[in-house]
Amino acid sequence: MKILVTGGAGFIGSHLVDALVRRGHKVRVLDNLEEQVHHGEKPDYLHPGAEYLWGDVRDRRLLSKALRGIEILFHEAACVGVGQSMYQIDKYVDNNTRSASILLDMIVNKKLPIQKMVVASSMSIYGEGAYRCADCGPVFPSVRPEEQLRRRQWEMLCPRCRKPLEPQPTAEEKPLAPTSVYAITKRDHEELFLTVGRAYRIPTVALRYFNVYGPRQNLSNPYTGVCAIFSARIKNNNPPLIFEDGLQSRDFVHVSDIVQANLLVMKNHRADGQAFNVGTGHSTSILEIARTLGRLYGNDIDPEIPKRFRAGDIRHCYAEISKLRAIGFQPTVKLKDGLRQLVQWGQHVAAKDEVQKAASELETRGLTRG
Ligand code: UD1
Repeated sequence: MKILVTGGAGFIGSHLVDALVRRGHKVRVLDNLEEQVHHGEKPDYLHPGAEYLWGDVRDRRLLSKALRGIEILFHEAACVGVGQSMYQIDKYVDNNTRSASILLDMIVNKKLPIQKMVVASSMSIYGEGAYRCADCGPVFPSVRPEEQLRRRQWEMLCPRCRKPLEPQPTAEEKPLAPTSVYAITKRDHEELFLTVGRAYRIPTVALRYFNVYGPRQNLSNPYTGVCAIFSARIKNNNPPLIFEDGLQSRDFVHVSDIVQANLLVMKNHRADGQAFNVGTGHSTSILEIARTLGRLYGNDIDPEIPKRFRAGDIRHCYAEISKLRAIGFQPTVKLKDGLRQLVQWGQHVAAKDEVQKAASELETRGLTRG
C-alpha cells in the first residue's frame, strides 16, 4: 500500500514508519522537523527505505504533493507540549487543529482515493480519569478545585459525599473533558477525522494514546512527557522535580505497543469509525517512575518534591483497553523492561537539561502554584 505518515520523523511516527517499511509498504513522510524537537538537525534514525518531504502540513502545495497516490494516511504530526499550549494558544490551535482541517479539506475536495485514515488522539481529552466512590458508585469528577490543591489535599474526593475516590480504568465512553489547549486540539483532531470520515465513507480510526515512552523520545525537549524530562534531569545529575506528592499516576505505554495498535487498526475493518484507548491497563505513580529511572541510570539521586502543582494536571488516569483487545491488541512491553530499554538508549544520546527554564516559564505565567 502507499502510505503517508505525517510527523514521520518524530518519536512515534518514526517507529511506525520503520514497521510499515519492514512490512513492504511504500511509505512517504511529511514532517516539518519542528525546531523544539529536532534542533535544526535531521535525526539519524530516519529509515532509508521511506521517502521524506520536509515541510508543514499547512503548506497546501507541499501537502498536495505528499498526498499524491496515497491510499492510507496516518496523521501523527502535532505540537505536543501540554503546558506550553496554555500560553502559545494560537500556535497550538493553528498547528494542530488547522493542520487537521486542511488535510481533510484537501482529501474530500480533491476526491483523493484514500482508503483509510488513522489519527493520533490522546488520553488528555478525558481530563480526569474514571473513579469509584464506595458509597455513591462510579463518578467522573472534574479537576480538583484550586483551594483543595492549596491545602495540599491531592487525592480526588467524591463530588457528592466528599469521601476519597478509588481510581478505575477509563473507558472510551467516559465523557470528554479536556483541561488544556493541547487536549482541546486533540479532541478536535479526533472529531474532525471521525466526522469527515463517516460523511465521506472513508474508514477512519482515532487512537487515544496514553503516556507513551521509549527510544527516540526527545530528551532535550522540556515540554514533552515525564520519562524524557526525568531522564534529562538524572543524566545531568539534577534531581527530578516532582509536582504534587508524586503519588499521582498514569498508564505508561511503550512506543512499540503504540505501533502495534496502529498496524492492527489499519487492517481491521471492525475498528472503522471508532476511537480506541491505547495503553496497558496498568497505572504507575510518578514517584516510582523517578526512582526506577534513577536506579537504571545508575544515579539514585533523590527527587525534589516541593509540593507545588501544575494548573490543569489530572490526578489519575489509566486505560480500559478491552475495546482494542477485542480486535486483537495485546500490550507486550512490561514497564520495567521498557524503561530499561529507554535508559539503554538514553545513555548514548545527548540530553540537555532545559527543565528549569521550562519550569520558570510556567511559574512566571502562574501556571504552577503551591
Ligand atoms: C500530558 C497529556 C498527554 C501527553 C503528555 C506528554 C494530559 C491529561 N495528558 O500528560 O496526552 O501525551 O502530557 O506530552 O494533559 N510531572 C512531574 N515532574 C515533571 C513533569 C511531570 O512531577 O518534571 C508529573 C506531572 O505533574 C503529571 C505527571 O508527571 O502528574 C505526568 O506528566 P506528563 O508526562 O507531562 O504527562 P501528562 O500530564 O499525564
